[in-house]
Amino acid sequence: MLTDKFGRTINYLRLAVVDRCNLRCTYCMPENGLVWIKQKELMTDEEMLRLCSIFSELGVNKIRLTGGEPFVRKNCIDLIGKISHLDGITDLSLTTNGLLTGQYIPQLKKFGVKSVNLSLDTLDEERFFRITRRKSFDKVMKTLDSLLEHDIKVKINTVVMENQNIEDIIPLVLLTKQLPIDVRFIEEMPFNGNDADISLKWNYPQIYQHIKDHFPEIEKTEDPKSSTSYNYKIPGFKGDVGIIAAYTRSFCGDCNRIRITPLGVLRTCLYEGTGINLKDEMRSGKTDEELKNIIVNTIQNKPKDGWEAQKFNLTESQIHQSMATIGG
Ligand code: GTP
Ligand code: 5AD
Ligand code: SF4
Repeated sequence: MLTDKFGRTINYLRLAVVDRCNLRCTYCMPENGLVWIKQKELMTDEEMLRLCSIFSELGVNKIRLTGGEPFVRKNCIDLIGKISHLDGITDLSLTTNGLLTGQYIPQLKKFGVKSVNLSLDTLDEERFFRITRRKSFDKVMKTLDSLLEHDIKVKINTVVMENQNIEDIIPLVLLTKQLPIDVRFIEEMPFNGNDADISLKWNYPQIYQHIKDHFPEIEKTEDPKSSTSYNYKIPGFKGDVGIIAAYTRSFCGDCNRIRITPLGVLRTCLYEGTGINLKDEMRSGKTDEELKNIIVNTIQNKPKDGWEAQKFNLTESQIHQSMATIGG
């Protein structure tokens, strides 16, 4: 079992398989001037699989593939297949924007992927284009339909943005009426490149109040341990509604997760900028036992509350990197 010095058990690995993406969501990536990781600096499938295997031996049972967009990585579906066969991984899932995902759904099903988190900020084609800078709304909706047809659990992630998608909040909540989908509204987090206001208008209480004004019967449900979202249900609706207070609340207290970036950097916290590079350690010839020691020692030093430490020291240039380079 992997634990840190504050007694938190780490059983959830978020593996960012690539930094690239086929969308340019305004809250995540600038349109131009992006510098991508070079192919030889990305971890290979074998290296990723080796790390997943080591982590599963150390007690990780949940792996989520993130990006960028996971399916922009070449043959990502093969990597998913290989990870799915590892002993000890009981929960394999991914966070995707849904553009390329549709064609792989039967294979995801075959590999035992039970749930997919789908990024979707609007139900309107025009607004989709404004937010993502790409005309791919139909593809995402087809992916959503196909995931449901294949009985794969879907959680929609919606970043809430003033002047962008406020009119989508209620229609998205209404999706949960007939369909067994969860919709989670996320506070926009600032990063180098977007202009999110640090005083954030659409914070958790505001989003909640907006939903409650339309659905006064909304009820709080129990939040699973280490849940990123505060969860609610509208009685009679099939799916749940969640709010992820990504900016105003720290998840650190009962955090069960660690991250590996596409470069192979082990990040013990979303907010921690540096970490040991496991790819370099592998390429320098470290054995599995040596890697395990490095991982165990690094995780010991997972910060107690990375967000609190960073939040009050934010300056323009220090605002953390785009989610795409960290893996959400
Ligand atoms: P589940 O495994 O379904 O609980 O997914 P998840 O919510 O952990 O993952 P997902 O990739 O869907 O991320 C949704 C949002 O959660 C991201 O946009 C982030 O805003 C937020 N998030 C994920 N991990 C963390 C974290 O460690 N700290 C904070 N503050 N936010 C996080
Ligand atoms: N603020 C909040 N959420 C973000 N995501 C990406 N960038 C941001 C941001 N600046 C979300 C995406 C995706 C998840 C992994 O991270 O919507 O669903
Ligand atoms: Fe791509 Fe997700 Fe970033 Fe949008 S939020 S640009 S879909 S990585």
